[in-house]
Amino acid sequence: IPSKEPVAVGDTLVFATGPKADQEITLDDLRAAQRERIPFIIAFPKSPENVVKKDLITNTIMVILADPNKMSPETRQHASPEGVLAYSAVCKHLGCTVSLWQNDTWLCPCHGGRYDIYNQARVVGGPVPAPVPQLPVKVEGGKVVVAGEFLGKPGADV
Ligand code: FES
Repeated sequence: IPSKEPVAVGDTLVFATGPKADQEITLDDLRAAQRERIPFIIAFPKSPENVVKKDLITNTIMVILADPNKMSPETRQHASPEGVLAYSAVCKHLGCTVSLWQNDTWLCPCHGGRYDIYNQARVVGGPVPAPVPQLPVKVEGGKVVVAGEFLGKPGADV
């Protein structure tokens, strides 16, 4: 089933929900989100064959425009030069979507797991056993494009 294929290099990222669901996320969208104080966008990958791969839980991805100067060198290495950064959004604890933002940390609503997006999603709170893996991305033609495989195994550690 094409919509269950895992994210792959060359996929674009599309909005998972909202009025722009299934549309490709652009650098302009991320800048607009930042202006509106929407800290990040939840995304699914879309294949070059235009299939939105939304039926595989581990394809739930967060994408954020962040300050490259705040990123650790390892984090920055897999972000775009503009500061577009992506991670698996499936919590490593029990698999909830990490969907909140508080005090400059990314927060899981289920049991309060917290991740530091500037440091490869280092765990900074809650019962989470491991960081979520970073997804290398770049910007091409204004769109966010997957540039590498997850830097670890996505999905809950259960
Ligand atoms: Fe995220 Fe428990 S599932 S903290």
